[in-house]
Amino acid sequence: MALNLTQKIFKDHLVSGEMVAGKEVAIRIDQTLTQDATGTMSYLQFEALGLDRVKTELSVSYVDHNMLQTGFENADDHRYLQTVAARYGIVFSRPGNGICHQVHLERFGKPGKTLLGSDSHTPTNGGLGMIAIGAGGLDVALAMGGEPFYTAMPKVVLVKLTGKLQPFVSAKDVILELLRRLTVKGGVGRIFEYGGEGVASLSVPERSTITNMGAELGATTSIFPSDEQTRKYLKAQGRENDYVALAADPGATYDETVEIDLNTLEPLIAQPHSPDNVVKVREIAGIPVSQVAIGSCTNSSYKDLLGIAAIMKGKTVHPSVSLGFSPGSRQTLEMISQNGVLGDLITSGARLLESACGPCIGMGFAPPSGGVSVRTFNRNFEGRSGTKDAKVYLASPEVAAACAITGVITDPRDLGVAPKTVDLPEKYVLDDRMMIFPPKEGAGIEVLRGPNIKPLPTRDRISETVTGSVLLKVGDNITTDHIMPAGAKVLPLRSNVPAISQYVFESVDPTFPKRAKEAGGGFIVGGANYGQGSSREHAALAPMYLGVKAVIVKGFARIHLANLINFGILPLTFVNESDYDKIDRDDQLEFSTAGLEKGTLVLKNLTKKIEIPVKHSLTARDLEIVRAGGTLAYVKGRAR
Ligand code: F3S
Repeated sequence: MALNLTQKIFKDHLVSGEMVAGKEVAIRIDQTLTQDATGTMSYLQFEALGLDRVKTELSVSYVDHNMLQTGFENADDHRYLQTVAARYGIVFSRPGNGICHQVHLERFGKPGKTLLGSDSHTPTNGGLGMIAIGAGGLDVALAMGGEPFYTAMPKVVLVKLTGKLQPFVSAKDVILELLRRLTVKGGVGRIFEYGGEGVASLSVPERSTITNMGAELGATTSIFPSDEQTRKYLKAQGRENDYVALAADPGATYDETVEIDLNTLEPLIAQPHSPDNVVKVREIAGIPVSQVAIGSCTNSSYKDLLGIAAIMKGKTVHPSVSLGFSPGSRQTLEMISQNGVLGDLITSGARLLESACGPCIGMGFAPPSGGVSVRTFNRNFEGRSGTKDAKVYLASPEVAAACAITGVITDPRDLGVAPKTVDLPEKYVLDDRMMIFPPKEGAGIEVLRGPNIKPLPTRDRISETVTGSVLLKVGDNITTDHIMPAGAKVLPLRSNVPAISQYVFESVDPTFPKRAKEAGGGFIVGGANYGQGSSREHAALAPMYLGVKAVIVKGFARIHLANLINFGILPLTFVNESDYDKIDRDDQLEFSTAGLEKGTLVLKNLTKKIEIPVKHSLTARDLEIVRAGGTLAYVKGRAR
């Protein structure tokens, strides 16, 4: 049977399941990556597995998110990440070496392989012909431990490219066009596979701009074939041996098809506050701009910066604009400093920012109040820039450069400068000294934890009879923010579960953590849609640490339900919703776990001397996980 490229790579990595859209499949993971903001928790989870070494072909730990060092916490995190990497066989990319996805593309990505990263823009490496998927820290920890990655098999969409990009139109405009047509929900449950004769004219960095921002479509990932462009890029990176040719079989079929004619595309821009709020640049030309930011994992490659310099050379940044740029990697920074492009940009008035995420997550270079910032990034949600009322527009490097010169939103074709083709170098500067490769033996290496990094708490196997008191009774629509608040006070404690747990249910009942600990754990009773909102794992992990054994509610939000299972908390729902009224705070409850497989069980309210039927929707594997005390304990137990 003729297979498309996605099916080919899935088939090569299939551990279990059937490749039918919507059905669960498990695939083997070859490579993992983490960044520092999610990495510390992922490595604490990996450590809890009790393994001696990672089992992947390659795992890399990058530091690019939390670079500001105004206190000890970030520096401690970086040191922990460096030592834990050496201990367990992980490559450590030092702070300053660049943004995870860019550096991975340059130095490690390989066609035909699978990559799981604890960052939503992991699909960037799909530009090299990989299946590269973003996931939670626990999934990445498990992949490092050799576990497969479970996902519903996505639908495969063919994006057929015809023609060739015209001067001042770029790869960014291809993905903005898709966002315009399909919206930020259009890619959910889908993989976008690029094909058609237009593909051949796009270089690997351009392809990666497109696959990077496929994340904004909500897609599982995006992928390009591996062809002559891929070989050229890998050769220039000194990695020609990593090249294999990969393409869909002739006659391969797809679930859906979208066509884009590159000849007719023109410069596009996403308006505040959503990446799919896309219009033609010329339709909104003239809006005054106060800031231009160039960088992020979307558009910070060597090619991008050369393109900007070609427009900026000999010009001056407009007096009302502050222009900042972050080269995506140290390789890019070294190359532009050697060939004079850095000097050209600085002469024009641009400010050099660190090779890191920086302004993309509001770490420095925030726009002024109410200001307009034109950015080459991938997200423009309200407040993300660090300035609550700023208006952020997303566009290509060419559009950003034009805006920086004129001080207003400008179509670069109206600048009156002659287009210049920017070729990729024959050879990139190859210098991996900011990469620390792990020693062959890690057993003797001490993992250094600052006072803010504590080992991950674990939970024992569930007992045959579960007893305890109702620690808290809440109503409908409790969010993960209610359960585990975020914010400046709490976020720095994410690697310190005992400390962060003191904030659980802070806005609902601040006495909860102390009471739960003193009681040796117990139950939470709630209403409908319990755990809605963000996917944060800490909303299950911290209650687990406090001893919560089961959550009994009228209904759960989907992701929180999965997180409760992952951390060994039994999620139960009332058979009759009205029984919610038959339980009060401090009631003593008891149930037997012997018959859990039946799907229903009898909850004894010892205080009120009544029995209440409750149920669960757990699969056989979920039940084994809860019985074991959570996913990590389950995986660890199976390995024995
Ligand atoms: Fe970093 Fe922004 Fe990308 S935070 S990984 S540059 S989306």
